[in-house]
Amino acid sequence: MARESLIKTYVVAVGLAVACSLLVAGAAIGLRPLQEENKVIDRKKNILVVAGLHDAAVPVVEAFQQVEVRIVDIETGEFVSEDKIDPATFDQRAAAKDPNMSVRIPAEKDRAGIGRREKYALVYLVQKDGQLDQVVLPIVGKGLWSTMYGFLAVGDDLNTVRGITFYEHAETPGLGGEIDNPLWKDKWTGKKLYDDQGTYKLEVVKGAAAQSGPGAEHQIDGISGATLTANGVSYSVAYWMGADGFKNLLERLKAEGA
Ligand SMILES: Cc1cc2nc3c(=O)[nH]c(=O)nc-3n(C[C@H](O)[C@H](O)[C@H](O)COP(=O)(O)O)c2cc1C
Repeated sequence: MARESLIKTYVVAVGLAVACSLLVAGAAIGLRPLQEENKVIDRKKNILVVAGLHDAAVPVVEAFQQVEVRIVDIETGEFVSEDKIDPATFDQRAAAKDPNMSVRIPAEKDRAGIGRREKYALVYLVQKDGQLDQVVLPIVGKGLWSTMYGFLAVGDDLNTVRGITFYEHAETPGLGGEIDNPLWKDKWTGKKLYDDQGTYKLEVVKGAAAQSGPGAEHQIDGISGATLTANGVSYSVAYWMGADGFKNLLERLKAEGA
């Protein structure tokens, strides 16, 4: 065969394409378990962060040992035994899409804009001196462009917010993306979910929250230029802390004197 021929060119090009695609496919498959493991670690880190327990000097997996992971039946607020659903393997996101593991949310109740919600959820309990100190609850809801996934930490009175964080969303950086701004997240700390009658009250307002007076403890500053994302957060938290979400769990824990 001639040193330079059309066939040789094709052979080299096809050979190179096959080799490269095998390499890319192999890397994608080979790295998937590592990616999954990193996602789990990232979620644990976010739970520690929202609970104020993250310390950069302590490995996440080690610090996470102080967190008790339970599965809750959202409708009843009762914990589910590990024999029925193992928290270590429960895939809550998959459950939210599985018709057998989720319920359709009627449109008039679907404040989070998610269509369906899982029947069972992973919740995270943190004890201090043998008493429940806080509970970290998963939240999910639609922003302007994306579904936002996060956690809300509630203190031992089962009413006061300790923190909020989102570990996944695709809102615009600098606009809706400001939900990740620590200064905005700090505004949630100390706010009350419910009033004295147990009615859900917390909301992200447009503009500045009242500094004092009636209702101030239930208001959080809006995000300028990102009212739609901020509303999405407000409505999503309202859904998940409401009667269709974790309110039953919070009331049960409160009644039990947690
Ligand atoms: C390119 C582009 C990206 C935007 N991204 C967001 C966003 O992520 N979240 C949001 O609430 N608004 C976003 N907006 C603005 C909204 O369209 C809307 O104007 C805004 O939410 C209203 O908030 P304001 O009343 O505080 O100005 C974006 C606008 C543009 C042009």
